[in-house]
Amino acid sequence: MSACGFHVIATCRIKSEAEILALKNELFPENDNIDILPVDVSSYESCSSLINKVTQKYGVISVLINNAGITADSSFKKMSLDQWQSVVSCNLDSMFNMSKLVFSPMCVQGWGRIINISSINAQKGQFGQANYAASKAGILGFTKSLAAEGASSGVTVNSVSPGYIATRMVMKLPDDIKEYIVSGIPVGRFGRPDEIAHTIKFIVDENSGFLTGSNIAVNGGQHMF
Ligand code: CAA
Repeated sequence: MSACGFHVIATCRIKSEAEILALKNELFPENDNIDILPVDVSSYESCSSLINKVTQKYGVISVLINNAGITADSSFKKMSLDQWQSVVSCNLDSMFNMSKLVFSPMCVQGWGRIINISSINAQKGQFGQANYAASKAGILGFTKSLAAEGASSGVTVNSVSPGYIATRMVMKLPDDIKEYIVSGIPVGRFGRPDEIAHTIKFIVDENSGFLTGSNIAVNGGQHMF
């Protein structure tokens, strides 16, 4: 997004200033168009304080990418209430919190893009992910509903459903499970984060104003429907 001329506010879980500076130097060295700010997306108050800070400095937010997500995989028989609540709260409540604060000003402005990151496992289900799949499937219904409300105000709302991407979340899976997963991906490899970024760039584009309420699956052919 920075390369597209936007000033980007990336967020991370609450960390000290020193840790945030180290993260910025590691991920975006010498890029003045990106700030990293701390937020707990599962807390409405924390999101509200973040959005106040950002809008005071930069004005109305034009693009919101809801991509915070965690896993707490477990077969359902063993899944604890905390594993359920923490995942739903981070992955799904966050979407309410952030969109609630950003959507109305976008509508008044008459232009906006909201992109919600779902998952292949929202669409196909996954052993050990009743919590994660439920949260990611909730995103799909939320997206279509908000798209209907934003359409007449120039605000598009879409979702992207990545397959297995070579992120820390996926790479921490045991090797035998990773090998099994790759064997089921027709493209023959995990996806790359930049391939998801490329899809988001397409949705954000000025010429994508007729694309709304859609879900784009980017999964190497692992799940076609
Ligand atoms: N399908 C069917 N049965 C399975 C299974 C599967 N995928 N995985 C395990 N089982 C069976 C085992 O064979 C075993 O059966 P028996 O009792 O008859 O021997 C039983 O289930 C074991 O059950 P447990 O509750 O003891 O399972 P576990 O503790 O060994 O492991 C798990 C469960 C942690 C969920 C593990 O299967 C796992 O890590 N699976 C991968 C989950 C996954 O794909 N996560 C994606 C993370 S990345 C992400 O989410 C990003 C994204 O959007 C794609």
